[in-house]
Amino acid sequence: MENKHLQQGEYDQFRTFLEQQCGIVLGDNKLYLVKSRLAPLMARFNVESLSELVSKTLSPHERQLRAAVVDAMTTNETLWFRDQYPFDLLQSKLFPEHKDLRRPLKIWSAASSSGQEPYSIAMSVAEFQAKSPGVLKMGAQIVGTDISNTMLDMCKHAEYDSLALARGLSAERRKKFFKDSGNGMAQVIDPIKKLTSFRHLNLLDSYALMGKFDIIFCRNVLIYFSPEVKAKIIAQFAQALNPKGYLFLGASESMSGLSTEFDMVRCNPGIIYQKK
Ligand SMILES: C[S@@+](CC[C@H](N)C(=O)[O-])C[C@H]1O[C@@H](n2cnc3c(N)ncnc32)[C@H](O)[C@@H]1O
Repeated sequence: MENKHLQQGEYDQFRTFLEQQCGIVLGDNKLYLVKSRLAPLMARFNVESLSELVSKTLSPHERQLRAAVVDAMTTNETLWFRDQYPFDLLQSKLFPEHKDLRRPLKIWSAASSSGQEPYSIAMSVAEFQAKSPGVLKMGAQIVGTDISNTMLDMCKHAEYDSLALARGLSAERRKKFFKDSGNGMAQVIDPIKKLTSFRHLNLLDSYALMGKFDIIFCRNVLIYFSPEVKAKIIAQFAQALNPKGYLFLGASESMSGLSTEFDMVRCNPGIIYQKK
């Protein structure tokens, strides 16, 4: 295999490409990350060096390769009931506020990764309904979107290995919401799956076809974007929310300086943003 190193100029061109395609900003010193994420694609696309892979990626005709490269450069780290407080707040505050809704409650998980976030939301709906029969009579519709087709396939399949199952899931929820499928794997049960649907969406594109939501989760993805891109995305979320709708960001993410369209609601613990 040819061992041609990626030149600084090629790395810079690649960084520009990635930011334009999906918003992800790579620092000056992330060459190791590019190498480790893209090396596995070389055999699949029949190229002999990273330099060749990058130069092919920059060609607008290589649509399949470009999508695979963006997919490979995304960070998909996630877990069940991540940070706990968003899911506690759903059950203690947001679901009760919507309990008499005469249509399904609409929730969007806008960077759903492999499905842990949208399915944790669906499990929270089921738990709330079990505790308070007769509420949320029309149920809930949870839409998960992501830019990565690999992640969307995992969401749709909803089957997880023992490592993934061990992260954030109580024994009780593991038992109640999964069916074993052999080799330590388990699949989300159908009544929970039925609350969800999944589709491809790049957060840089228009959300006009997504419809309106009562609650949006966009957690642990804005950190990868520039302030300008973050502000644009948050403005689009404001458009996609019903009046007084809620937006959850990641625990280390903030809306400070990015939008005036939301009120910050301090909960204990956690912060949520409510459309004015
Ligand atoms: C770190 S995961 C966060 C998953 C989940 N929200 C959580 O908090 O556990 C970030 C996800 O954002 C997705 N992503 C990155 N850039 C995106 C973009 N431009 N549009 C849509 N999704 C994107 C990645 O594919 C990845 O699955």
